Amino acid sequence: MVQCTQPPPQLKLPESKITELTDDENHDSPPKPEKRTRMHHIERHRSCVVTLSDIELNGLQPRRLLQTIEKSLGGGSQCSLHEEAPTDANASHRHAIADAAWEALKRSIVYFRGQPIGTVAAIDKSQGAALNYDQVFMRDFIPSALAFLMKGEHLIVKNFLVEIARLQSREKMVDLFKLGQGVMPASFKVHHRNPTQKTESLLADFGETAIGRVAPVDSGLWWIILLRAYTKWTGDNSLAESPNCQRAMHLILRLCLSEGCDTSPALLCADGCSMIDRRMGIYGYPIEIQALFFMAMRCALSLLKQDSDADFVNHITKRIQALSYHLHSYYWLDFQRLNDIYRYKTEEYSQTALNKFNVIPESIPDWIFDFMPSRGGYFIGNVSPARMDFRWFCLGNFIAILSSLATGEQAEAILDLVEERWQELIGEMPLKICYPAMENQEWQIVTGCDPKNTRWSYHNGGSWPVLLWLLVAVSVKLGRPHLARRAVELMEQRLAKDDFPEYYDGKVGRYVGKQARKFQTWSVAGYLVAKMLLDDPSHLRIVALEDDSHSQAPFLKRSNSCP
Ligand code: GLC
Repeated sequence: MVQCTQPPPQLKLPESKITELTDDENHDSPPKPEKRTRMHHIERHRSCVVTLSDIELNGLQPRRLLQTIEKSLGGGSQCSLHEEAPTDANASHRHAIADAAWEALKRSIVYFRGQPIGTVAAIDKSQGAALNYDQVFMRDFIPSALAFLMKGEHLIVKNFLVEIARLQSREKMVDLFKLGQGVMPASFKVHHRNPTQKTESLLADFGETAIGRVAPVDSGLWWIILLRAYTKWTGDNSLAESPNCQRAMHLILRLCLSEGCDTSPALLCADGCSMIDRRMGIYGYPIEIQALFFMAMRCALSLLKQDSDADFVNHITKRIQALSYHLHSYYWLDFQRLNDIYRYKTEEYSQTALNKFNVIPESIPDWIFDFMPSRGGYFIGNVSPARMDFRWFCLGNFIAILSSLATGEQAEAILDLVEERWQELIGEMPLKICYPAMENQEWQIVTGCDPKNTRWSYHNGGSWPVLLWLLVAVSVKLGRPHLARRAVELMEQRLAKDDFPEYYDGKVGRYVGKQARKFQTWSVAGYLVAKMLLDDPSHLRIVALEDDSHSQAPFLKRSNSCP
């Protein structure tokens, strides 16, 4: 991407129909006349960006829009555009994929009372029942939100954050049981109560209608992470400081910090509590949730107002330290640690026990001895009494790098592992959600014979294009973008041709997933975010937290500016 050397002239756009969904808006009243509250413009001091609403407003293909803007900038401007003229077949192929992706992302936008509010999980007309793929998912919206923010389209992200906070404040029931106040929805959809009067309301799913009644523990954590991304990117603190957002953060964290009978600072979860939202043996203390929890707490510390309850802030600070200690001590695995565990004594009683969880060395699966390279390491999937789940989970490890839960050395080691085990973790289509797959009797027992999660499919060792943005983000963070480029190039060979599938199957991810949706929005958005991060590594600030030695007290000063 070529940077502007002088501010580009402001674009004259038609009156936007886009307004903000303000906090005080009464959602049960009929829609008010739309008002324009924000100028959409090409941002100064950054690269030339074109907003999606510009695309909407002009009804143009993104590339044609770029040409239009190029003209409006006078051609001779010193500012050249993100998408340069293709110089060879590869470049034009890449442009075509990016264009197709922006088009697909645009189509996925969901409107509520005339406002953009999120993106639908997938638009695949070829599949029978939409199930809940026609909903806006909290976790699925993250890459969409990042893509919108980087493209200068902030409003949809703001609306999303505001509406989710509003949904959180509703009373949530599953059968006769009332859920905690802090719980946030897994997904929502726009419900047209009375099509003739055009009354719309939002219907949220907190797990009470989800397949398997799974609780989305990750939702609230992602919400905080997104709020920090929005604040960091836009420099607009007013949203985070609004009473509704402050309250939402308090409620989420109070839920996570509440005391129980646990001996561990990690969050106890039921199976299916996160991206892997079906029974897959991730119950207990899954790394994905622990890493998100860690990151969300760090984000919250930067977003809570100065006058927040000091005890609460202290509580968060202490939990960050304890969680970090716990994960470093018991989840980190490398060649040396594996060898130590292999030689563990069992039945140790007392504070001085080395094998604290009484893990029986015979329970170490055979595959790990070959898989573990002498160079590299990772946080394993789960630890609880007599149980270490040695599987590699992609999201938890990459979030550990982005949040600086992983030390510098550990972060490098995680990427070393990816490099050393490229064939297993990346194969022909990035990236494996977890490794390895469970087969035969283990699959029967652990998944409950789930036909969607057969070996090397879907959550059970399937390859998920959405995870590309995380690989790119961590590679950029560690100054190893060649890894990211390799993965992006691999993906570009198939992604658009296969219509942006949700996941791929097979040991190396060669086959479009058996039940994978096409035009899965987070596959589309994940690719776009990956591209934008590679094109401009400074974009990384949107999701990466610097290491501020969270393992040492005192630490984590609160401030009005995000880390
Ligand atoms: C699947 C995924 C889940 C995702 C949902 C919508 O259930 O496992 O992570 O949020 O689809 O795309």
